[in-house]
Amino acid sequence: MVWDAAGVTRKVILDVDTGTDDAVAIMLAALHPGLDLAAVTTVNGNVPLPATTDNTLRVLDAIGRPDVPVHPGVAHPIARRGFPGQTHFKRDSDRDMHGTSLPLPAPVTAARDTSAVEFLLHTLRDTTEPVTLVPVGPLSTIATVLAADPSVRDAVDEIVIMGGAHAYGNVTPSAEFNIWADPEAAAMVFSAGFPRLTLVPLDATHQALVTRADCAKLAELGTAAGRAAADLITRRIDAYSAGHGVHAADSAPVHDAVCVAYLVRPEVITTRPVRVEVETAGALTVGRTVMDVRPNATGEPNAQVAFQARAEVLVDLLLTTFGEAGQR
Ligand code: RIB
Ligand code: CA
Repeated sequence: MVWDAAGVTRKVILDVDTGTDDAVAIMLAALHPGLDLAAVTTVNGNVPLPATTDNTLRVLDAIGRPDVPVHPGVAHPIARRGFPGQTHFKRDSDRDMHGTSLPLPAPVTAARDTSAVEFLLHTLRDTTEPVTLVPVGPLSTIATVLAADPSVRDAVDEIVIMGGAHAYGNVTPSAEFNIWADPEAAAMVFSAGFPRLTLVPLDATHQALVTRADCAKLAELGTAAGRAAADLITRRIDAYSAGHGVHAADSAPVHDAVCVAYLVRPEVITTRPVRVEVETAGALTVGRTVMDVRPNATGEPNAQVAFQARAEVLVDLLLTTFGEAGQR
């Protein structure tokens, strides 16, 4: 696969808790010619680990990429037992935007026997080229890898995380789901010293809303990816309309897809360097990403944080990529 002017594709590993928005992110990473999706690793999150792994396999089979290896990851938060990691809405209710199983055929392809933790350790220790890591679920698998060998961060040219919120969360007023579901893991990742950490919080993803009209265009592409994206995003719009709350009618954020879009269309977000710490103790604020945006901020920035995002860039990329992937 050769894509950019220098003839280089970017080697990417996605870490997912698939989920409707993870599904769109996976399709974008698997089908965009500028990305070499080396593997997908899974984690507990939107649904329990067996379902996030099964859903990931469904997505890759549906778009003709069963060759992308899927490695099952960590099934629970690293430091908490019984801490809620599942949906805060009744499963399969009209406000449950994921369901347990995605509405795609059951997978034919099986997950790999090697666990995500083993796979990531071996791959990052042995790689001769930089790897871009894109975690878009709770950070339990990535933190477990770092606990085993912190030096593997040096093989990662950039880690692009969907998570956190500055203005307001979606699980609590303070916390966004991915960080809240495993705050100790998130704290480890933010303090791990990655050479470049890009954070795409709710503040950005809530600006990149995809509409019902966009879904109609995706469906009209007539490709497997276009149809799947239209169905999954429509489900999200229905759930948001039923009470999730968005800023525009008949639209929804597709959080995780914004991270993948950024890899090939960086102008989809606007970032600034900020020091980010994760609250792990506050009774009301556990899982909050505390961002020091003060003019007189103290402490070294450890993240490039997106505070703006452009829906038109995201939608254009989805239409182009899923349209061109029609023959797959
Ligand atoms: O808060 C949004 C995030 O939580 C997304 O990654 C979604 O898939 C869930 O994991
Ligand atoms: Ca996710």
